[in-house]
Amino acid sequence: MVIGVLTAGGDCPGLNAVVRAVVSRAVVTHGMEVVGIQNGWDGLMEGHVRALGRNDVRGILQRGGTILGTSRRDPYVHGDGYASVRRTVESNGIDAVIVVGGDGTLRTALALQREGLPVVGVPKTIDNDIAGTDTTFGFDTAVSIATEALDRISTTAESHNRIMVVEVMGRTKGWIATYAGIAAGADAILVPELETDLEKVAGTIRARHRHGHTYSIVVVAEGCEAPGGASISAGVDAFGFERLGGVGYAFGAELERLTGFETRVTVLGHLQRGGTPTAFDRVLATRFGVAAVDLAAAGRFGEMAALRGTEVVGVPLAEACADIRGVDPALLDVAQTFFG
Ligand code: F6P
Repeated sequence: MVIGVLTAGGDCPGLNAVVRAVVSRAVVTHGMEVVGIQNGWDGLMEGHVRALGRNDVRGILQRGGTILGTSRRDPYVHGDGYASVRRTVESNGIDAVIVVGGDGTLRTALALQREGLPVVGVPKTIDNDIAGTDTTFGFDTAVSIATEALDRISTTAESHNRIMVVEVMGRTKGWIATYAGIAAGADAILVPELETDLEKVAGTIRARHRHGHTYSIVVVAEGCEAPGGASISAGVDAFGFERLGGVGYAFGAELERLTGFETRVTVLGHLQRGGTPTAFDRVLATRFGVAAVDLAAAGRFGEMAALRGTEVVGVPLAEACADIRGVDPALLDVAQTFFG
């Protein structure tokens, strides 16, 4: 059996751990061959494929990014669906494709699978918003980076009696904001899942400063609607998703106006996706890679490796693609406990 593996969408810490696990599991456990498909779906459309052996994946476990490259180009947007990838699949004798991606990539994988491509999915994203799995790899790393940044920002803030607004990624969901905000003891966490009452946030901040606190930290998820409903958009990406980033500046300006306190804004941006994955993400990515190969070996196409409790299992891709998973209301409730 020949397994193809591709990584598509935004990169994410742990992708190389998945690729390494796919190669080792396929070669060592199942006696399969593996080919790496370059630059996501692009490589499958353009025929950019190379053999991957165990030597090719040595030393990559700790490395951020993806040795395969990635892109947001989609066969249904930039090609002719299954027809545009079929030639590469057939000419390379590929029996199954392991697709490592976020919600857009997995939806494309499901559509191709329905047209006849044997596909197994692996959920990846720092946003943690994929349904069907308890968590995705990359998220823990992004939260760790954001938490460290918030800790650092707190110490400069306290010396200046300022409000610090910190914008984090997460697309339309507030997972990174909620986790990093709780971990760093933020004074307000604004997420797309909840309507923002900025007057209330400003009131809380004024009260804090009246009671002797010298600074306040406000974490804003990039997917929040700007105050007054203003639209902040940098256009759309190749998947057709709106490009986010910068809404924190609008919140900063409004909080400064409402409170009178000097305010500074930091947009963490791609820092959250770069560098070495945490141990948790390395282990989860490795388990997903191993499980994906086992699913392919068992002919369980149209499924995705997923974490359920402590187990890694196969779940239907259709289940993963049915929804974009928002932050659990119970966790949002935990976060609210500390505001005020
Ligand atoms: O989906 C992962 C993610 O990092 C989002 O959090 C963010 O909005 C987006 O990708 C950024 O994408 P790009 O790398 O194309 O700017």
